[in-house]
Order: sequence, then structure tokens, then C-alpha cells
Amino acid sequence: MRVAGRLLALVVLTLLATGTANSAEPVLSQSQIDKLLLHGPWPVQWDRDPSNRVSGNPNAIALGRDLFFSPKLSGNGKMSCATCHHPGRGWTDRLPQGLGTTKLDRNTQSLFNVRLNRWFGWDGQNDNLWAQSIRPLLDPKEMNASAGHVVKVVNGDPELAEAYENVFGAAPDTANLELTLVNLGKAMAAFQETIVSGRSPFDAFRDALAKGDEKAASAYPAAAKRGAALFFGRGNCTFCHTGPNFTNGEFQDAGVPYFLGPGRVDKGRYAGIGKLKASKLTLAGDYSDDPAKTGAWKVRGVRALHRNFGEFKVPSLRNLTQTAPYMHNGSLATLEDVVRHYSEIDVERLHADGTRVLAPLHLNDREVKDLVAFLESLSTG
Ligand code: HEC
Ligand code: HEC
Repeated sequence: MRVAGRLLALVVLTLLATGTANSAEPVLSQSQIDKLLLHGPWPVQWDRDPSNRVSGNPNAIALGRDLFFSPKLSGNGKMSCATCHHPGRGWTDRLPQGLGTTKLDRNTQSLFNVRLNRWFGWDGQNDNLWAQSIRPLLDPKEMNASAGHVVKVVNGDPELAEAYENVFGAAPDTANLELTLVNLGKAMAAFQETIVSGRSPFDAFRDALAKGDEKAASAYPAAAKRGAALFFGRGNCTFCHTGPNFTNGEFQDAGVPYFLGPGRVDKGRYAGIGKLKASKLTLAGDYSDDPAKTGAWKVRGVRALHRNFGEFKVPSLRNLTQTAPYMHNGSLATLEDVVRHYSEIDVERLHADGTRVLAPLHLNDREVKDLVAFLESLSTG
């Protein structure tokens, strides 16, 4: 059986080889191909969010878009969501750390494919997109507004007020600021659910392999193919970066320092769980529109463990070419820096009780370039 398996792999590999036949060229094994196939097809089928009754509603999407791009909602009238999540910059800001009323501690996350998330924020402090969308409005370090201010702005703008009434069936309720704010969050969530990255060269390669279309598969660059062998093989990257969106949606320690300065640390997931547990705006709470309260187990079941200290969300790897710099603190400027970080990772820095999957790969310069070429092939360009 083993021999037969190897032979089969060899046949596939030979078929994969590009026009320039080079017997020394490393290629994908059958087990690597099997793993690779699990990362598609793309885009993945998606159903509207049951916790948000206006999810997928075109009028809510239009209202959400207007709110997302409106600086009027912020405390100083100058900052919108798009200031930090700029569509021309991969829905982020290209800064190491976000810049609100002051410099933030963390990198601005891209909003590509945000509808596929299980948790929101680097620390997963929210379990749904509408709650996460309200957070920056009220954060004094970000848009620095009050609920009263936001609702007053919407009420005072005839177009926004009318759109709100159309979507939610009543004018913005100034007596129930929390409810009105949640509704605005739901409209913004509906808009962000439309932000989906397109098909990448990797997706074409993956589908060609799935169909056994050798000609189409041969269009994938040789360097990216060699990088794929590292990603799905020795690098063990798929342990965390799983599935079509290249993330398991959970939290891990990837050896990025979490010290912020003298006496200050970013507790990551550990603090995120505390915030989640204290929030009324979860899938288990009254504001979820889902009578079945689907997903409520997430907040009910989770508890902060020592290992969560300094863990951060495993990010998607799609459209990385648009979203530099990288990591929760924006500390790595390029994809080559990220690959070199993994290649020479300091295992002493990883939690003793965390997942022991990362080990230095000691890649040579060509292998570094190959892995970068693979990561770049996950972008739409
Ligand atoms: C000052 C910059 C800034 C502004 C303004 C801002 N954000 Fe963010 N956004 C961030 C940062 C930084 C993070 C990462 C938060 C964290 O983990 O601490 C983030 C994270 C998010 C996430 C989580 C994405 C994920 O994959 O988990 C969503 C959703 C989001 N922002 C939506 C919004 C919306 C909607 C607005 C406007 C109401 C907004 N943001 C305004 C900087 C900003
Ligand atoms: C143990 C789980 C795990 C493994 C294995 C893993 N990663 Fe990661 N990856 C993470 C986490 C967690 C982060 C975010 C870390 C942080 O910011 O503190 C991350 C971040 C990244 C980023 C930055 C993305 C961004 O938007 O900032 C890239 C690129 C990346 N990983 C590629 C890889 C590659 C290539 C491999 C294999 C060599 C790999 N990862 C293996 C968990 C993992």
C-alpha cells in the first residue's frame, strides 16, 4: 500500500512539473495535495448571520456603507471607520499600529472576509460583527463618541434618519440609545459582510488540482509550488492556518512579543475573554435576533486559562499583499520578515503550556523566497 501511495504521488508530481523539466525540483506529495485541496473552493458558501435580522438586506447594506464612511459619527467629526479601514489599502491603514485620538497598541485588522470570523478583534473580545462594529465608536482612543452623539447625528441627518426608518421600521429611538446603537452596528455589519476577497492564483491552482486539469495547474508559478510544499509540509503552517480562509478562527501564540513597554503587556486572548464575558452584546444576549441563539455556546463555554495569556487570533492569509505590516502589533514589515520570523522562531518565547507545533525551520534564502511566493499567491493582486 505504501509503495502504491508513493507511486501515485510520484505520478501526480510528474504531472505537476512545469515545462522546464527539472528532476531536482521539489514538488508536492499526495498528502500535501490532500491538505491543499481543503483550502477551497473559494469563495465559500455563506449564509446570512442569524443574529442580525438585517444581514443581507440591501437597504441595510446601503445604510451601513454610509455610516462606515461618515466622519460625522466620531467625537471630533473627522474620523470614520474608513480612516483606519481604508478600502484602497486592503481595508486597513498600512500603519504598524492604528492611529485614533492617540496611537493604539494593535495593528488595524483588514476587513476582508470578516463575515467568516467566529471571533472578532485580535483578542476575540466579541463573538459577533455588530458588537465589534460599535466598539470603535465609543472607544476614547478611537472614534471617541458617545451613544448620545451617534444617535443625535443619525437623527439630525434626514437621509440617514430616513434610511434607518426604512430598514428598522421606526425612527431612531433617542430614549433607547443602546438599542439604536445596536441597530446601527447591525447595518454596518451588513455592509462589512459584503467585503469579500476575489479569487487568487492559488484558487485557480487548487481547483485545477481538484479537477485533475494538468494544463491549468501548470500555470501556477514554480516558486509558489515549492512554497506550497513547505506550507503544507515541513512548515506545518496548516495546523493553525486551516481551511479556505487560511485560519482556524481561534487563538494561538506565534512567538510575537506581547510586551508594550515598561510594566505593560498586551494580555491578548486572556483579556479578550474577560471583555466578552462582561458584554451584553453577545450571541447569548437579548440583542441577538436569533431565537435559537445559535453560537451562544461560544461565550458560555469559554473561560480564561493561563495559556490564553499573550495569545492572539490566527489571521486569515488572504490578500496579504494589500495589508502589510503584519502581526497583532504590526511589528513585521514584510512577508519576508514574517517567514524569517517563523524560520528562526524562538521556542523559549512560546508558552510552555501552549501548542508545541512551532519549531525553527532554518530555511535557506531560496526557501524563504518560495514561501513568500506562495503567500503572495493567496492574494488577488
Ligand atoms: C482608529 C482606527 C480605527 C477605527 C477608526 C476603526 N477601527 Fe476597526 N479596528 C482597528 C483596530 C486597531 C482593530 C483591532 C482591534 C483589537 O483587536 O484591539 C480593529 C478591528 C476591527 C474589526 C475586527 C476584524 C476582525 O477580523 O476581527 C472590525 C469588524 C472593525 N474593526 C470594524 C470597524 C468599524 C465598523 C469601524 C467604524 C465604526 C471601525 N472598525 C473603526 C482600528 C480602527
Ligand atoms: C501555532 C499556530 C500557527 C502556526 C503553526 C502558524 N501560524 Fe502564522 N500566525 C499564527 C498567529 C496566532 C498569528 C498572529 C500572531 C500575532 O500577531 O501575535 C499568525 C500570523 C501570521 C501571519 C501574519 C498575518 C497578518 O495579517 O498579520 C502570516 C503571514 C503567517 N502567520 C504565516 C504563517 C506561515 C507561513 C506559517 C508556517 C511556517 C505559519 N504562519 C504557521 C498562528 C500560527
